[in-house]
Amino acid sequence: MTPDTKDGLHSRCIVALDLPRQESLEIASSLKGIASWVKVGLTLFFLEGPSIVYSLKEMGFKVFADLKLFDIPHQIEGAARSLVTIGVDMFTLYALGGLSMMQAARAGADEASQSRPGQAPKILAVTVLTSMDQEVLQQTGISNGLDDQVKTLASLAVEAGMDGLVSSPLEIRMLRSQVPKDKLIVTPGIRPLGSENNDQSRTATPKTAIDEGADFIVVGRPITAALDPAQAFISLFD
Ligand code: C5P
Repeated sequence: MTPDTKDGLHSRCIVALDLPRQESLEIASSLKGIASWVKVGLTLFFLEGPSIVYSLKEMGFKVFADLKLFDIPHQIEGAARSLVTIGVDMFTLYALGGLSMMQAARAGADEASQSRPGQAPKILAVTVLTSMDQEVLQQTGISNGLDDQVKTLASLAVEAGMDGLVSSPLEIRMLRSQVPKDKLIVTPGIRPLGSENNDQSRTATPKTAIDEGADFIVVGRPITAALDPAQAFISLFD
């Protein structure tokens, strides 16, 4: 499929399918040939498992499994191997799991990708969830300020060989100036002008996020709740 319209911007928009299987597949079907990437999160994956990934891959999509892994290194190495085996193209883990946990994910993903040169999945580290503020950090025993904590975990992720970071719209600029250029910055919390914020509080438009330095944006409800998801997708950068 050749969805690279709008100077390649459409291939940098990941559609978050946070809906039951049938609705997710219907939306995906309407985006075939227009969008390149879809995101499968915890809700859909825990209900449907690998079969939803197989279905989306068969439709020609690249699949971002946003499953935010966090466990002992041995377990994470195995999880990364499994995710490669079922065909995901990008997945997330928590940088808070530490250097050895992230390195284990890298090792597992690389090992499982050996038979498919150049196709190792991208691994993204989540630093601090956007739902967490200073008070919540403190509750968990972290005395760093929010930005410092994000920066510390971003450095650790780079050191561990992660391919990039999940970043809130407000952090893109800070992270872009901190991490090497080849590291991906993937940003949810995107709202086209005039669309509802839903439960997102700190949002950016697609264009602003890309201009600030995001490599990919993640957009869910502005597309999936639209009467015409394909049209909503195409209009993202108008
Ligand atoms: O529907 P909406 O565009 O708000 O969806 C955004 C997607 O990005 C959701 O799947 C949500 O889980 C995810 N996400 C987020 N904020 C984060 C990390 C992930 O909104 N900090």
